[in-house]
Amino acid sequence: MTEDFKTLEFKNGKLVLIDQRKLPSSLEYAEASSVEDVYFAIKDMIVRGAPLIGAVAAYGAYFAAVEAKGDKNVFNKKLSYLLSSRPTAVNLSWALERQKRIAENTGLDPSALLKEALAIEDEDRKVNRKLSRYGSEVIKENANVLTHCNAGALATCGWGTALGVIKEAYCQGKNIHVYADETRPRLQGARLTSWELVRAGIPATLIPDSAAATLIREGKIDVIVLGADRITLNGDVANKLGTFPLSIIAKEYNIPFYSAAPISTIDFSLEEGKDIPIEERSKDEVIKIEDYYVAPKEIIVFNPSFDVTPHENITGIITEQGIIYPPFKENILKLKKELC
Ligand code: MRU
Repeated sequence: MTEDFKTLEFKNGKLVLIDQRKLPSSLEYAEASSVEDVYFAIKDMIVRGAPLIGAVAAYGAYFAAVEAKGDKNVFNKKLSYLLSSRPTAVNLSWALERQKRIAENTGLDPSALLKEALAIEDEDRKVNRKLSRYGSEVIKENANVLTHCNAGALATCGWGTALGVIKEAYCQGKNIHVYADETRPRLQGARLTSWELVRAGIPATLIPDSAAATLIREGKIDVIVLGADRITLNGDVANKLGTFPLSIIAKEYNIPFYSAAPISTIDFSLEEGKDIPIEERSKDEVIKIEDYYVAPKEIIVFNPSFDVTPHENITGIITEQGIIYPPFKENILKLKKELC
């Protein structure tokens, strides 16, 4: 199975991006050819999903090198600006740090930064395929799989992480059924995961987020696989809002709960999840659907975009190096050592 769409493509000096705000109504593309364009694309969620945010930011660093014309201070300011676009997904700072090193080693040569951005994009596709193969073992024949938000091809440079694991199991010929949480308030599950599942022909049911508990209690879910925006040394996982309550229900009913993510999503500098910065987004996302108000304008709103799931609630973390099981801290530190 291959995708018939590209979430990002560098063409004729420009970055062409699927405008994910428009899906599933229409498949439209947006272009980015400056730091400002890239900042806007990430902030306004033309692109979203941790690995894709990282890759797009890497191209942003290339534009920063072009715009800085050899001025290191200007370049660094532009990188800080890109870094401020969305705070939770660590892939953003990971990609910008990689580009910073390239800039230092090449005297800010834009062509070297472009080459690195292309490499980050290419690596992401390969890594997703690899982690999906490892992860597919947790999805058994006849499994009903629950996922949350969108951790598919649209959230990455291709194939996806959690949805990649599910697609891999399906491609292996396993008879599976996917339950996709709609994922209020931005509806990434309804708009994006459903779109990918329908396109791939994988049997799936879309559910309101609050239906997950009932399905789990009725024994209709065998395994939960979802993505991550940042994983800390102790195995705590920041992911789309709603992941944490899902993990509590899963633990209560003994349902295996996996997070699938590339190693670039592990923040080796953070000990535990309480230190992860959680993005709060506009109240409009909650009180409006398009131009239609579903709540009074005056109401106070709390709209965190992510929550943190404690490692105690996680069965395993699926990566391109294999599945990490508890004790997470020990095993993540071992992995860190192997990578150095
Ligand atoms: O706000 P979003 O849509 O960027 O949030 C996306 C998620 O939370 C995903 O689960 C996560 O980034 C992993 S994507 C492979």
